[in-house]
Amino acid sequence: MSAIKKVKHMTAPKIRALKGERPVVCLTAYTTPVAQILDPHVDLLLVGDSVGMVLHGLESTLAVTLEMMIMHGAAVVRGADHACVIIDMPFASYQESPEQAYRNAARLMQETGCAGVKLEGGVEMAETIHFLTARGIPVMGHVGLTPQSFNSFGGYGARGRRQEQWNPIIEDALAVNEAGAFALVVEGVAEPLAQEITTKVETVTIGIGASPVCDGQILVTEDMLGLFDRVPSFVKQYANISADIDAAAKEYSAEVRARTFPAAEHCYKMRIEEK
Ligand code: KIV
Repeated sequence: MSAIKKVKHMTAPKIRALKGERPVVCLTAYTTPVAQILDPHVDLLLVGDSVGMVLHGLESTLAVTLEMMIMHGAAVVRGADHACVIIDMPFASYQESPEQAYRNAARLMQETGCAGVKLEGGVEMAETIHFLTARGIPVMGHVGLTPQSFNSFGGYGARGRRQEQWNPIIEDALAVNEAGAFALVVEGVAEPLAQEITTKVETVTIGIGASPVCDGQILVTEDMLGLFDRVPSFVKQYANISADIDAAAKEYSAEVRARTFPAAEHCYKMRIEEK
């Protein structure tokens, strides 16, 4: 049976049309219940390959597979009625050739019903982005700090903090824009560079660690909910769910040991047969 559902309220063209109108609100999601909670509040839900680190305990995103993205992507699409759901193409699923990227992006769309894909890279990925967009696959680009290239960068540090480092990043953004991306994640760059990129491209820029000058913002949901002790400096924690989970588990454990849970209201009663 096809995973493709009816078109959601927000689509890639509608996201792109928000440039200059109002900020674009985006968050990551990996599961159906979280997607259901976030859906009314956001324009776009990204099934990021960050799922590998956030939910699967991987050291980096490099070991994330297409199958993992399909499984989590389909779960998020099931939970979203309004938001535009975009799925990350994992490392090594698109860099080889435009044809490889098309095959794998088409699988993501056919098997999940998502509205488009995201891939990392600039000038070197422009041909691939054009190949996909020309064949009906909306693409969200991702420039600046691109985590799948952390081995080449030597870590996850912010990029372009000196003006002499700006040119290649601006060229990346322009190439992705020219290739037809409907949106562009700009990650880990200083505000003046984010401003320069946002002014120069026609597509919507979605910042993460890139200041409020971007056309929209995205965060990893578990970071902003406070699931982890260590969070990057650009993240604001809007909740502290690790403390809530810890307190709930502590109370549960104490009540099980004291035999105060389950209480009478949590137990099935016998049914008395009427004669
Ligand atoms: O993988 C991811 O979650 C991302 C966002 C942080 C932009 O790429």
